[in-house]
Amino acid sequence: MCGSVSVCLSVFAAWIAIAESGSGNEWGYEPGIGPSTWSLHYPQCGGSSQSPISVDTASAVLDKNLTAFTFSGYDNVNNISMSMKNNGHTVQIDLTGKLMTISGGGVSDIYRAKQFHFHWGSEDRRGSEHDINDNHFPMEMHVVHYNSKYDTFEDAVNETNGLHVLAFLFEVGTVNHHFDEIIHHFYQIAHKADHVNLTTFPLSGLFPGDLKVYYRYHGSLTTPPCSESVIWTIFKETIKISEDQLMKFRHNVHRNYANETDRDISNDFRPTQHLNHRFVYASDTSAIYKPISASGTLVPSSICIIAIIFLLFVFTW
Ligand SMILES: *[C@@H]1O[C@H](CO)[C@@H](O)[C@H](O)[C@H]1NC(C)=O
Ligand SMILES: *[C@@H]1O[C@H](CO)[C@@H](O)[C@H](O)[C@H]1NC(C)=O
Ligand SMILES: *[C@@H]1O[C@H](CO)[C@@H](O)[C@H](O)[C@H]1NC(C)=O
Ligand SMILES: *[C@@H]1O[C@H](CO)[C@@H](O)[C@H](O)[C@H]1NC(C)=O
Ligand SMILES: *[C@@H]1O[C@H](CO)[C@@H](O)[C@H](O)[C@H]1NC(C)=O
Ligand SMILES: [Zn+2]
Repeated sequence: MCGSVSVCLSVFAAWIAIAESGSGNEWGYEPGIGPSTWSLHYPQCGGSSQSPISVDTASAVLDKNLTAFTFSGYDNVNNISMSMKNNGHTVQIDLTGKLMTISGGGVSDIYRAKQFHFHWGSEDRRGSEHDINDNHFPMEMHVVHYNSKYDTFEDAVNETNGLHVLAFLFEVGTVNHHFDEIIHHFYQIAHKADHVNLTTFPLSGLFPGDLKVYYRYHGSLTTPPCSESVIWTIFKETIKISEDQLMKFRHNVHRNYANETDRDISNDFRPTQHLNHRFVYASDTSAIYKPISASGTLVPSSICIIAIIFLLFVFTW
């Protein structure tokens, strides 16, 4: 039928494009509807203050104004409801009921917690949205807040400093039982649009011990509509979780409806965006450091090869 392979491919590509435009503003992480296409339907995704970013620890700027946070309601379970859903992009836990707020942290307004969700990879070496010195982490948790001077999240989403997201990076460790209530209910949200009510647990239980050392920058939502209204806080200390627990995220929740072939949600992260005119600030000098080469064997060996080539050159000349 097709004259050449390339004609075939372009016909196929056009067919995919038509199939996708027919489904409206559907977005995802798969080819055709992935991050590089988001700005077609969501122009803010093409902005100049987008998230996530790569944090370069050596060029972070110390800001003494970045004081500790005051968390209110994060230790409570009374009158707070946690409803977990699979929205086809992530596992999200919506928080309703009694106020949970953050203040301090170098931000003058009070922010109210709305929901938290996760981004994770199919392997340990990817999954986080933010990275530190180009090192990616297997998972990242976002606790999404909106400025309490607005009545709702929707009212705040387009406003300067309307949102504040707390980002936590994960590392592989031993079993973390604070995540049991979430993971043990994955079988009830295995497919898109599934939801389940959790037994409320104290949200602070998920957090690492040191919440004083963090990075700060101004950016956007990492999913459409990519609104550039987000104050980002990325904590330096990671949350530890076991490989087995990560495997439950990777394989027990799917991006499709129950009537379709199962596809893991894994790899639901947006690539890092250009920093452009922005700066990354650090709350403490311990967060500002020159990275120790992660690929410790690679750098010396490449220096070695250059040295050998140089020596060969000198001797043969
Ligand atoms: C800290 O806050 C003061 C007063 O608001 C401000 O003048 C200063 O620029 C801030 N420091 C940094 C590093 O942003
Ligand atoms: C929870 O709500 C009930 C009824 O609305 C109220 O009586 C109770 O004091 C609340 N508990 C807390 C800890 O706020
Ligand atoms: C936010 O701004 C965008 C672009 O101006 C607009 O399309 C969208 O409707 C706004 N969203 C809300 C919730 O106001
Ligand atoms: C979850 O709880 C709410 C009330 O807080 C209730 O209206 C809803 O039906 C519950 N959903 C499920 C799936 O049990
Ligand atoms: C599967 O179910 C969803 C919603 O329940 C529906 O929108 C979709 O068209 C169905 N897909 C197939 C292949 O039947
Ligand atoms: Zn997120």
